[in-house]
This record gives sequence, structure tokens and C-alpha cells, in this order.
Amino acid sequence: MNTKIIRINKETEYSEQLTEASEIILTGGTVVFPTETVYGLGGNGLLADAAQKIYAAKGRPSDNPLIIHIAEPCDAEKYAFVNDVYYRLAEAFMPGPLTVIMPKRECIPLSVTGGLDTVAVRCPSHPVAHALIKKCGVPIAAPSANISGRPSPTSAKYVEEDMLGRVDMIIDGGECEIGLESTIVKIDGNSLTLLRPGAITRDALLCVCEDVKIAPAVIHKLAENEKPLSPGMKYRHYAPNADLVLLDGNSDDVLSFMINEQKSTGCAVLCYDEELSCLNPDLSIAIGTRNDLATQAKKLFTSLREADKLGAAKIYAHLPTLDGLGLALYNRMIRAAAHTIKKI
Ligand code: TXA
Ligand code: MG
Repeated sequence: MNTKIIRINKETEYSEQLTEASEIILTGGTVVFPTETVYGLGGNGLLADAAQKIYAAKGRPSDNPLIIHIAEPCDAEKYAFVNDVYYRLAEAFMPGPLTVIMPKRECIPLSVTGGLDTVAVRCPSHPVAHALIKKCGVPIAAPSANISGRPSPTSAKYVEEDMLGRVDMIIDGGECEIGLESTIVKIDGNSLTLLRPGAITRDALLCVCEDVKIAPAVIHKLAENEKPLSPGMKYRHYAPNADLVLLDGNSDDVLSFMINEQKSTGCAVLCYDEELSCLNPDLSIAIGTRNDLATQAKKLFTSLREADKLGAAKIYAHLPTLDGLGLALYNRMIRAAAHTIKKI
């Protein structure tokens, strides 16, 4: 397949440039587009065939459902049975990095929802994503635009690494602001279950809904034969080719361990900016300063991809804390590490 690439500058007029992209979507093709979280691999959310093409391009099992992206929060009513809680969430966080799971309406094909009777709905704030969905006039079904199991792409460079020749078009809209995928919640009556933490933190959700449970698989490894609340929880994710090991201990001890390991084994590390000068610069990737979780989130997936290119067999990184945005970092990193944590 020949992949057409178009580059868009957010600051200038680009509506015309999206005409061809919307035609591709409407005729059942696939277009990768930027969002504020990560790049999405989009297809027409009302066409069963488009979902099949998305699964094929990603190499994703077709029981792992897709998120549908809408232009306005109220469009959710066309595709899902919404309630008050949805509107409270929409008021507070949409458009933005929040996905809400609700009972689906008939018009959404089962192939989009992996056979489930619920659908995941998200209204992105990225202007290019918004303009594209609006132009199409249909919801855009889109998972992250990576080959299944690889880190989600946060710039077109990484989309091209994974998707060239696998999709009809890639829209390069620059770097994604947030860098981690959206927060996913499931509405159950008046309460919420957090299925995937993201930039909308649990504390922020608690301001809107007083009952926010955290699904156990967000932090813990699923027990064998345990049925996950979200199919995506059972797959290995974000994984570099090297073995990632998370180090749990006080920062000084962890840094000493990294320094010694680099000398003795030539391992790679993901470190904080302020640690870089103590480490081997050829084997170290800085992901932001210790307390700047937003930068760490933005750089995490890129850092995992770049760490792999250093060619080391092992990558060490700090185990994040569970507070605020730390929960999202923790969730992505324990999956990338296949739950390998070493106490220091
Ligand atoms: O930020 C994002 O959410 C990005 C951008 C492109 O919008 N999309 C994204 O999609 O991360 P994806 O497919 O990579 O992750 C969606 C997750 C999957 O783990 C899937 O299992 C879960 O959402 N999911 C989707 N529909 C669901 C449903 N009806 N019930 C439970 N989990 C669902
Ligand atoms: Mg994904």
C-alpha cells in the first residue's frame, strides 16, 4: 500500500488539506492523525470493514475494542446511551484527554467494540483532530497508531516507523502535547471505574464524581484466567525490545545502582535530567526533571523507542510514584516492563 504523508502547520489554515483525508475515511480507508495525547489510526467508526483494516494495520487482536472520536461532546448521544454523569464529565473535561465507556447504540458495529455491548467515546481537543472529525461527519474509530505492543507514537516520525505502507495516509501535525493516551473511565450508574489513568487524574475525576474506583489491573498484574474490565489490559504494551526493569528504592541508591550497572554491563537507563551528568551519556536518556511529571509523560514513549536504539539488552528506569500523573506513568511503565520491579 502506498502511504501518502501530508504535513500540517497548526497555526495556519489547513481545512483544505483535510479534504482528501476525509474522503479516505468516508470511503472506508485509514488515516493516521494527531491528537493531544498520541497519534490515532483512524477509520470510519460506522463501518465494520474500516475496523478490520485498522486491526490489520496494527496487527491487533480484533477482540480489543477501538475508541470512537467525536467532534462535540453531545454527539455521544448518537452512538451511546449517555446519562448525567457523562454530561458532568463532558462539562469538566471535554474536549480533552478523557475517554468514557457507555452502553452502545445499534449504529456502532460490533467489530468496532470488539464484540462488547459498550463503546468508548472521546472528544479530542487537538484542532486538527477536531477539524478532521467535523469534516467527515462520522465518528472516527482510532486506536493509537503503533504496531500492537509497541510504544504509542507521539510524533509523525514514530508513526512512519510503524505505519508506512500499512495505512492510506499519515497527517503529520507535529508533536503531541501530552504524550500518554487518554484517561479511560467506565460509567456504572453514578460511579466511575478508572480503567486507564492519563492526564485527567483520579483527583480531578473526584471533583466531578465522588465514587471513582481504580480497576485492579491499572496497578497490579492480572491473575491467570482473570477477566479484565478492559480487553486491552490483558495484552503486553508499550514494550521496547530490550528488557525494561523498574528500580524501586530511594533516588540516591537507584542512581548509584544505575552508575555501577552501566560500568559493569553496559545497560541503558532512563534517568532524570539532573542525573545525566553522573551517567554514561551514550547509554542514558533523560526524561525530564524529577518532579516534572508532565515532561516525563510527554517523553516516556519516545524515550522507550530511543532507548531501544542504543542496542543494550537491558534498560533500567526509576519506578514512578502513584500520585497525580504519576499513576499514569506507573501504569505504562509496569506494562512496558512486564511488571519487572527490582528492589534496591
Ligand atoms: O488517547 C487515546 O485514547 C488514543 C488516541 C488516539 O485517542 N487512543 C488510544 O486507543 O489509546 P487504544 O485503542 O490504543 O486504547 C484504547 C483502550 C484499549 O485498551 C481498549 O481495550 C479499551 O480502550 N477499550 C476500548 N473500548 C472499550 C470498551 N467498550 N470497554 C472496555 N475497554 C475498552
Ligand atoms: Mg494503544
